[in-house]
Amino acid sequence: MSQPRVFVARAIPPIGLDLLRPHFEIDLWTDPLPPSRATVLERVQGCAGILSLLTDTMDVDVMEAAGPTLRVISNLAVGVNNIDLEAAQARGIAVGHTPDVLTESTADLAFALLITAARRMGEATAAVKAGEWKTWDPLGFIGADLMGATLGVVGLGRIGRAFARRCHGGWKMKVLYSGGRPQPEDGLDDAQAVDLDTLLESSDFVSVHVPLTTKTRHLFDAKAFAKMKSSAVFVNTARGPIHDQKALYQALVSGEIAAAGLDVTDPEPMDATDPLLTLDNCIVVPHIGSGTRSSRDAMSRIAAENLIAGVLGTTLPFSPL
Ligand code: GLV
Repeated sequence: MSQPRVFVARAIPPIGLDLLRPHFEIDLWTDPLPPSRATVLERVQGCAGILSLLTDTMDVDVMEAAGPTLRVISNLAVGVNNIDLEAAQARGIAVGHTPDVLTESTADLAFALLITAARRMGEATAAVKAGEWKTWDPLGFIGADLMGATLGVVGLGRIGRAFARRCHGGWKMKVLYSGGRPQPEDGLDDAQAVDLDTLLESSDFVSVHVPLTTKTRHLFDAKAFAKMKSSAVFVNTARGPIHDQKALYQALVSGEIAAAGLDVTDPEPMDATDPLLTLDNCIVVPHIGSGTRSSRDAMSRIAAENLIAGVLGTTLPFSPL
């Protein structure tokens, strides 16, 4: 008997593909760039499962194109904003994602962006490369102190908590948060729940860790940046559309805030001509939060396990539904 067919939308770490091979006929998209919309709509036809990436929109059209054979969409990401969850639920299509295994790696990257932006390392490195390092300068590249600063975490969920643990445990920061809550093992007993305005007004550093939803889209708009301290550093490792990129540019140019560190942009990929890239006080990396060996291997394994469970009709190990 022929095996169920699954569409795997990109080459993933081998551990996941090895798990899938005994169960499925795998249609693997091997290009480094995502398949076009037309390609997705064609290739998913008759599939029992789709292993998607955060760059692949999984909407009604894709589900309809796949047809009644489709039992599961397994996302190689914790975020599922690329999937129409309601449409999947309405059609009885299971949805998988890969939480937990990227929590620490993403929190590390958020911290790296924070310290890079706060200590102006992007500009400093560029100056060295440009031959501008002429002497030790008592006035050169003066940045913000991290020790004892006030941190505002928007979304104290898995990644927000891991980030806050680093900042509080290691750098003795006072933690304010809006949304989510600390767990006893976090050592964040002194963290204060505040409303977003208070958080924006009071924090030296603001880091975003909420999912992208209709409610959080452009949560950081011109008004939000205007409420922040002029010395504040903004960090986004969640999803680009949570900040209004034009408003962020204005806030950085006008000195409304001091600096930003972004792992996510709107759109992605960011165009090389994006005005934000002209700014010394903005550091951008290409959505690499989960980019460590163990996180990516674990994501690949879990995405495969979710796909297998979904096709077999058993409970997915990890589902956002
Ligand atoms: C990455 O952004 C993810 O959602 O896993």
